[in-house]
Amino acid sequence: MKIIEDVRSVFARDPAARNVFEVLTCYSGVQAVLFYRLTHFLWRYRLYWLARFISTFARWVTGIEIHPGAVIGRRFFIDHGMGVVIGETAIIGDDCMLYHGVTLGGTTWDKVKRHPTLKNGVVIGAGAKILGPIILGENVRVGSNSVVVRSIDDNETVVGIPGRIVRKKAEDGGSFDSYAANSSGTSNDPTIQAINSLIERLAEMEEKLENASPKTSSVNIENK
Ligand SMILES: CC(C)(COP(=O)(O)OP(=O)(O)OC[C@H]1O[C@@H](n2cnc3c(N)ncnc32)[C@H](O)[C@@H]1OP(=O)(O)O)[C@@H](O)C(=O)NCCC(=O)NCCS
Repeated sequence: MKIIEDVRSVFARDPAARNVFEVLTCYSGVQAVLFYRLTHFLWRYRLYWLARFISTFARWVTGIEIHPGAVIGRRFFIDHGMGVVIGETAIIGDDCMLYHGVTLGGTTWDKVKRHPTLKNGVVIGAGAKILGPIILGENVRVGSNSVVVRSIDDNETVVGIPGRIVRKKAEDGGSFDSYAANSSGTSNDPTIQAINSLIERLAEMEEKLENASPKTSSVNIENK
């Protein structure tokens, strides 16, 4: 079920999250997404006023405005949340994440597709504005406070105003980057370098263990 996945996805993306009760009661981003799942359901059944009314209530409570007509995929997470605006014709893929102050906004008053489309795995930093019916490709990362007005290819990192591409993310199918921070090991911060090397070491050890375990079990079976 989508809402269970939404709640679960928090643990993978926020190291501060402790348990489900805390996430449900203290994470306004999660509350906003749960309200959205309800309002989008109502919207699809053409209960437009009710959907907008509940959405407005959700905005009072959470500080996050998600139009009920927006289409949002699975495991969507908004961290911190305050000030996020998601427009009516926005489309968001699976496993996307936004920080506070992000706008997925329109640039025209015409009743057309006027908000952005985010493909799977997009992460948008705090305060960034994504404007117009543009497409952000899979796993695109947008730096905090950037303003993006043009479509971006898969796996790119874009920063600044107007957004410029700074790096193509390694297409290694790697896991989610909390805070959209670089995990490629090229950071100059010695603490990050140390953590990265520990993570790499751990991954190597896990791989070795996985490779070793079938042999162990077959030996055991033979011995029996
Ligand atoms: C964009 C981002 C993902 C890039 O991370 P990265 O891959 O580690 O890239 P780096 O930090 O090495 O930066 C690459 C270049 O982009 C620049 N840059 C990074 N973030 C930037 C930003 N938000 N605005 C402008 N320039 C930025 C760096 O100065 C660097 O420029 P240089 O190559 O000219 O020196 C990351 O900086 C970011 O903004 N993450 C969002 C974090 C966030 O919003 N957290 C909220 C927590 S509450």
